[in-house]
Amino acid sequence: MQIRKATLSDLYQVSSIEAVSHTTPWSLGDFTSELQRPDAEFWLICDENNRVQGYIIFRLILNECYLINITVADGRRRRGIGSLLMQHMIIRAGGRGCDRIVLDVRRDNAAALAFYEEWGFEPAGGPGLSGSYVMTKNI
Ligand SMILES: CC(C)(COP(=O)(O)OP(=O)(O)OC[C@H]1O[C@@H](n2cnc3c(N)ncnc32)[C@H](O)[C@@H]1OP(=O)(O)O)[C@@H](O)C(=O)NCCC(=O)NCCS
Repeated sequence: MQIRKATLSDLYQVSSIEAVSHTTPWSLGDFTSELQRPDAEFWLICDENNRVQGYIIFRLILNECYLINITVADGRRRRGIGSLLMQHMIIRAGGRGCDRIVLDVRRDNAAALAFYEEWGFEPAGGPGLSGSYVMTKNI
């Protein structure tokens, strides 16, 4: 397993994982825009054959890190890959002076809620987007 930055040529693989992982999946265009944002970091975890197993996208804004997308390929979950991506983000964010991670999670996404709780995220209290919670974690 290797964690490396995403490039344009990875986005077809990323989009095909995304399409079967989310109720409202991001498009290829959404990923392309995120790759070009100066405040965003977009990382992949790949196997020994350079096949994408998962990805994480976050934005670093002042002292906060916004987790925008974390996805592990269906069939590769519950093997610690999401945790490797989360740990990588926390190290990068801490190194850039962030002291808080913020995310938005759908209330019906039981797997993601369990994953974030395991990582020590707590509901922020305020309203999230419709049907979702905002969760935060101090780092
Ligand atoms: C959320 C997601 C990224 C987690 O990735 P993962 O690689 O499966 O996570 P890990 O294997 O590192 O799990 C770490 C811990 O989180 C918890 N957890 C993860 N998935 C869980 C599930 N489906 N049910 C209950 N607990 C879960 C467990 O405590 C797990 O530890 P354990 O396997 O030793 O019990 C993955 O389920 C996913 O890609 N889901 C679809 C996309 C998505 O919903 N992304 C989040 C959008 S907000």
